Amino acid sequence: MALLEAQDLYAGYGGVDILRGTHLHVESQDIVVIVGPNGAGKSTAMKAIFGLVPIRQGHVYYQGSDITREPPERMVGRGIAYVPQEANVFASLTVLENLELGAYSVPGDMTARLDKVFSIFPRLKERRRQPAGVMSGGERQMVAMGRALMIDPQLLMLDEPTAGLSPRLIDETFERIQDINHLGIGVLMVEQNARQALAIADRGYVLATGENRYHDTGPALLANPEVAAMFLGG
Ligand SMILES: Nc1ncnc2c1ncn2[C@@H]1O[C@H](COP(=O)(O)OP(=O)(O)O)[C@@H](O)[C@H]1O
Ligand SMILES: [Mg+2]
Repeated sequence: MALLEAQDLYAGYGGVDILRGTHLHVESQDIVVIVGPNGAGKSTAMKAIFGLVPIRQGHVYYQGSDITREPPERMVGRGIAYVPQEANVFASLTVLENLELGAYSVPGDMTARLDKVFSIFPRLKERRRQPAGVMSGGERQMVAMGRALMIDPQLLMLDEPTAGLSPRLIDETFERIQDINHLGIGVLMVEQNARQALAIADRGYVLATGENRYHDTGPALLANPEVAAMFLGG
């Protein structure tokens, strides 16, 4: 059974469909990457799946259950965590407070979950008393991912986790995403650093004007000359 299956999605804003028949498939414990030009609808696809943009037609299934149009808090309750492209930390709160807020909807002791986050991101433990707003872009992205992990998700959705980061931090972020995946967490992410992302992807999707153009294993997409020429900068 697929972890996540989005079928034939039509969704958008104010009656205008941005997504037009989009489909996505994530097996449990896979890393799946969505690439494509700016404005293709990648963020819209993530938001539609997570219940933040109305779905006009099509279905989203999670572990076999139809979750189409469920509100985000229900998604979280099912074990789906989503890190948006922007404004994904509370700048005035400390790192620890950000992480604790991430866990608010999941009852029980959060010590084990905090330990897991700190084992993946030791820097966050060192800096747990600092306001998130004074941290670097790379560290803030770690806070955002750490907060998402505090619900103990089976599926982590990341919208451009490496945007604006230096090459060194991009490499590190992809390594941390692989660490997270090795804990048994499926990852669905949108990435502009398409070559690097596809290199670690079990599957990749090329989205353009809200439609699936290509989907294949990460390495196969990287090796596809049409995909390289049109979507990966040659
Ligand atoms: N809140 C919104 N209201 C109206 N149009 C939007 C909104 N968000 C995005 N769009 C439009 O939807 C299209 C797809 O945007 P988006 O999903 O953010 O693309 P991507 O993430 O692939 O760059 C763009 O044309 C964008 O202008
Ligand atoms: Mg986007």
